[in-house]
Amino acid sequence: MAAVAKERLKSPRARLFVALDLPDEVREGIAVWGGRALADPALRPVAPESLHITLAFLGYRPEKEIEQIAEVVRESAGPAPWVELLDPVQRPPRGRARLFALPVLSPGAESLQAGLERKLVEGGFYEPEKRPFWPHVTVARVRPEARGSRRPAVVSDPLGKLPEGLSEAFLGVRLALYRSDLQPTGARYVPLAQVELPGAGRQ
Ligand code: 2AM
Repeated sequence: MAAVAKERLKSPRARLFVALDLPDEVREGIAVWGGRALADPALRPVAPESLHITLAFLGYRPEKEIEQIAEVVRESAGPAPWVELLDPVQRPPRGRARLFALPVLSPGAESLQAGLERKLVEGGFYEPEKRPFWPHVTVARVRPEARGSRRPAVVSDPLGKLPEGLSEAFLGVRLALYRSDLQPTGARYVPLAQVELPGAGRQ
């Protein structure tokens, strides 16, 4: 095997993604609403500190790229975007749900995502998704119907609508590069770099 290929196999990798962070009060508001709306035992609600809008999922990248990717994230910062959360939807839309998410209305987040994606592609760190960007906040994943099964359990309680307070627009607060550590209990997201967006916290 060529030395370069061998080296590549050995190089430690990290599962990375870049997200737009939500204000603490919005994360708390989603957690309070979720306490009732996501109470179905088939659901595994996302912990408040893990609620975010993913802008780019990079997958496994060599750890030695992390500093350069963090620099791209810092360079991609722009004015804090207005964000509006919509009523929960299931994915996939038909059949058994695998996850529930709040779709996001935010032209500002879409333009941040486009700029970030362009810079990540230029740097050779990212292969864009074929499907269009779907801004959303995942609020719950569905547990498997049986241990070891890939089929999601049946969710019997409908999620209903968001309360009024959560439907009000807010400003996204920062861009963050996260490492996703997969664990049996679910993924743990560790921030590796963060950049506050100008104007956030102004409302
Ligand atoms: P999701 O919440 O819609 O599943 C960390 O896994 C974050 O990256 C999650 O917010 C997840 O979105 C997002 N993500 C996007 N594409 C992914 C993929 N192919 N595999 C895992 N996570 C992905």
